[in-house]
Amino acid sequence: MALCVAFVLLVAVFCPAVLCQPDGTLGKETTAQEDQNNGTQVDSLNLASINTDFAFSLYKELALKNPDKNIVFSPFSISFALAVLSLGASSNTLEEILEGLKFNLTETPKEDIHRGFGDLLHMLSQPGDQVKISTGSAIFVEKRLPILAEFKEKARALYQAEASSTDFQQPHEAKKLINDYVSKNTHGKIKELISDLDDSALMVLVNYIYFKGKWKTPFDPDSTFESDFYLDNNRTVRVPMMKLKFLTTPYFRDEELSCSVVELKYTGNASALFILPDEGKMQQLEASLQPETLRKWKKSLRPRMIDELRLPKFSISTDDSMEGILSKLGIREVFSSQADLSGITGDKDLMVSKVVHKAVLDVGEIGTEAAAATGIMMVGSALILNPLEVYFDRSFLMIIYSTNTQTPLFMAKVTNPNEN
Ligand SMILES: *[C@@H]1O[C@H](CO)[C@@H](O)[C@H](O)[C@H]1NC(C)=O
Ligand SMILES: *[C@@H]1O[C@H](CO)[C@@H](O)[C@H](O)[C@H]1NC(C)=O
Ligand SMILES: *[C@@H]1O[C@H](CO)[C@@H](O)[C@H](O)[C@H]1NC(C)=O
Ligand SMILES: *[C@@H]1O[C@H](CO)[C@@H](O)[C@H](O)[C@H]1NC(C)=O
Repeated sequence: MALCVAFVLLVAVFCPAVLCQPDGTLGKETTAQEDQNNGTQVDSLNLASINTDFAFSLYKELALKNPDKNIVFSPFSISFALAVLSLGASSNTLEEILEGLKFNLTETPKEDIHRGFGDLLHMLSQPGDQVKISTGSAIFVEKRLPILAEFKEKARALYQAEASSTDFQQPHEAKKLINDYVSKNTHGKIKELISDLDDSALMVLVNYIYFKGKWKTPFDPDSTFESDFYLDNNRTVRVPMMKLKFLTTPYFRDEELSCSVVELKYTGNASALFILPDEGKMQQLEASLQPETLRKWKKSLRPRMIDELRLPKFSISTDDSMEGILSKLGIREVFSSQADLSGITGDKDLMVSKVVHKAVLDVGEIGTEAAAATGIMMVGSALILNPLEVYFDRSFLMIIYSTNTQTPLFMAKVTNPNEN
């Protein structure tokens, strides 16, 4: 199973004068002076809960915009890229970004936020984990743009994001450079991140995340069969349906929200929650998604033998422009001529012109090499009084999170496994 996401912010100039007279824009000293703050740890920052809040808020907006469509995105990638951008933002623009990411600036100084993300990045990039998570950020800057050394320095120190000088006067080459970078880092899964590069683009900020995990209990490919998946009460599509019998895995039946929650673990420090609302209850479930909901599920999950679990094998992808969605979360000024990104060049003439997010999610039996070990067959299962069957044969949600950090890395809604 592999999943990857790339997120890009195109920063453009709204005062073309910068391009024409680069000299005229220099000379202003930044006032941004880092407070010496001892700060708090990731835990007391409650980053997991804040990131979940952001993930669900974003999910609700995406679901509103794309009713009945497949959705897949990485809230982590988006908040990470925005946090990098925030290093160059000031005043109201900065507040909007951090509050849009669900931080309470009265409680949390921005230095703690950056430190929290830095720690998170560090924890996610631990080598030796059997779940492969690679994530990174890069900043491509027009070579004639007088970018402040301090911004580059902070981006590197806090977010391991390298800024490289790029010739945007050659948009075709610049586009290729950026797309190649993303393609290489997502193992070819995301090839054409940017389809056209605005000729006013001066800076491109990219974040990608690539995830590859193997199920702790893999599905047996020989058991996969063709079956119906319900698009609604009347319409079905035929999908390859994976099947596992007599699987003991964390399970919770949420009567309050009329849904069943199944956790499938990866070998390594990650897990996936699959949430199946009862027929006709998807909207109710979506409306009630809160950080507390996720907390409740995680607390209530108990190992339970599932007599038969069915899950479609699928590959879905989304490619979304995010400006409108982020505006709904209160992040607006950065897309306007009021934007204050003066921490980047020292001048207030930059704005974000475009935000692109692309994600690909493949769920399969992985891996065939372990197929012989499948089963956990138990004799005597016929004696179980309440046989439990969970069939993901209609719209469901999926949340992949890192168990070390409790951070949601990806979130998806699958409404039609055949549509990508
Ligand atoms: C930071 O911690 C050190 C040692 O624990 C202390 O001496 C210093 O006053 C603290 N600084 C602030 C700004 O709290
Ligand atoms: C932010 O935190 C302060 C202090 O804890 C609290 O009074 C305020 O209501 C919080 N703001 C929001 C928007 O939650
Ligand atoms: C989980 O992560 C830790 C480091 O945080 C690592 O040492 C360990 O090997 C990982 N577990 C697995 C099963 O990969
Ligand atoms: C399903 O079909 C019935 C009768 O053909 C119709 O009344 C109903 O509106 C349909 N439901 C949906 C969700 O399309």
